Amino acid sequence: MCGIVGYVGYRRILPVLLDGLKRLEYRGYDSAGVTWPEEGGLMRVRAKGKLSVLEDTLEDYRSTKSKVGLGHTRWATHGEPTEENAHPHTDCTGELVVVHNGIIENYYSLREQLKKEGHRFMSETDTEVLAHLIEKYLDDDLEAAVRQALKDVTGAYALGVLWARRPDMLIAARKQSPLVLGISENETFMASDIPAILPYTREVIFLDDGEMAILTEQGISICSLENGQEIEKAPQQISWDAAMAEKSGYKHFMLKEIYEQPQAILNTFRGSIIPDTGEIELPEIGIETQTIQRLKRIVLLACGTSWHAGLIGKYWIEKWAGIPVEVDLASEFRYRDLLMDEDVLTIPISQSGETADTLAGLRIAKNLGSPIVSICNVLGSTITRESDGTVYTHAGPEIGVASTKAFTSQLTALYILALFLAQKRKSVSMQDAATYLKALMKVPGIIEEHLSKWHEHSRKLADEFYTKADFLYLGRHLQFPVALEGALKLKEISYIHAEGYAAGEMKHGPIALIDKDMPVVALVPGDHVYEKMISNVEEVKSRRGIVVALGRQEDEGLKRISNVMIGVPEADPMINPFLYTVPLQLIAYEIALARGCDVDQPRNLAKSVTVE
Ligand code: AGP
Repeated sequence: MCGIVGYVGYRRILPVLLDGLKRLEYRGYDSAGVTWPEEGGLMRVRAKGKLSVLEDTLEDYRSTKSKVGLGHTRWATHGEPTEENAHPHTDCTGELVVVHNGIIENYYSLREQLKKEGHRFMSETDTEVLAHLIEKYLDDDLEAAVRQALKDVTGAYALGVLWARRPDMLIAARKQSPLVLGISENETFMASDIPAILPYTREVIFLDDGEMAILTEQGISICSLENGQEIEKAPQQISWDAAMAEKSGYKHFMLKEIYEQPQAILNTFRGSIIPDTGEIELPEIGIETQTIQRLKRIVLLACGTSWHAGLIGKYWIEKWAGIPVEVDLASEFRYRDLLMDEDVLTIPISQSGETADTLAGLRIAKNLGSPIVSICNVLGSTITRESDGTVYTHAGPEIGVASTKAFTSQLTALYILALFLAQKRKSVSMQDAATYLKALMKVPGIIEEHLSKWHEHSRKLADEFYTKADFLYLGRHLQFPVALEGALKLKEISYIHAEGYAAGEMKHGPIALIDKDMPVVALVPGDHVYEKMISNVEEVKSRRGIVVALGRQEDEGLKRISNVMIGVPEADPMINPFLYTVPLQLIAYEIALARGCDVDQPRNLAKSVTVE
């Protein structure tokens, strides 16, 4: 997704804009640009490709003393990634510029109408329409012109506006695309995401849909796009510091985030559980006990890795809370004829809190009367602000596009939520809840203790298998979603074709794939389906398949029938998903590294999919 950075204050503008855009690179982009007021007009410099190209182009402008400006990294949606299509875009006069993240759905009809009115377009983008639309309504009141222009627009936008005649201010507006505002002494900021402003301030305001903000050196005022009425919004303090959003010495953000998982899991459950008594407190859950007690069904709603977390959460919630659980891909859910009402709890799961399909599903469920409790990693993100309540994960900023610590933190949130629901429905004794909580509390230590050994095994495995064209991941019960997640990790960062499958499905098709060239990763903990998994591994072996097994280090039988085996300590079966996921993350990481892939910013992928 695109990245927006805006600044008004006392610092020289170019270093602030470029540093901010660099901190948003993980969002994925293919061109970039900056703009600032200069000698009564506006400067605009854009470039195709990475920020380093833009920086080279800016060499001649380093002396500018401007203290106001906008920057943008573009992930192409309408129009090829070219300099002409890069933001910022201007109106006919060149005195007004906009940067935008989102999609203007009615841009074509608006552009044709504006052309009839004499406007000349220089790009293929939907964004440029916004600049000319504001120009159309602009006399001397920029705020009014922006509000009027956006009334004509359907679609999603996070918008930054700068006008040469008001060089001391910026306008921000949002609908369905995230925009965060930063406040510090004699300076204000706007950005698509928190890391861009973290080095300067942790005091932030999240714009909501339908809101507009005016940023000046003195501060920020917010009003309704609908009627211009002022809106009071208290700033929030972000607990992350800039260092957390940096790599802290790791080669990649993804590796740092894999190693941060013990802390992320601990931070997610700490403060919510009292292991001795088995009590769980979720103060922001936002629904009453009687609502929980009358629930007939739960829908877990998500995309990608978050959907895999939901598939695991299903087992815990059904086992402990005794409520039927559906796990839905949000992109399918939102287009189905849904049977929902106030007795169905919807739980959107989203690291970013901005995923378009998940947000759309939330809104449909809410309109049907379903209470909404989201699981999310970003304070104040759109999904959390449209939910009745939230169980926050506390993974800290996840910069790598491939989700790792956010996933195991989502598992943590689902685990404690399942026990919380069980307690409210009295379907689990406090003693049993205490036992399960104690098992959860062991997870950070077990992962911490085994990370470097698993990493060493993964390096060796990568050396042997990084040239393979196909992988198959097999698991049963709680390990089936883990197999799906392991396959997704590999495919999204190494570009190897990898499939996750329920091991019991082998005879129904996948067994035809087995040959000497395809590694089969089998997840074989000592649980109630262990014997079944051993049979699956033997089926693979007997067809000269390559078996990469994850299982108990003392499992000599498994070791004997495997080509490679990674040991995972024996633990309560309910926490195995945490333990079996981490080696699979490291295997994907090391294979991607061996293949020279861009681990943190894999091709074609974005960290937050805020458009369909
Ligand atoms: C996972 O590694 C991917 N980055 C992707 O599948 C991601 O999980 C999905 O886009 C959902 O994102 P969200 O959790 O922010 O909603």
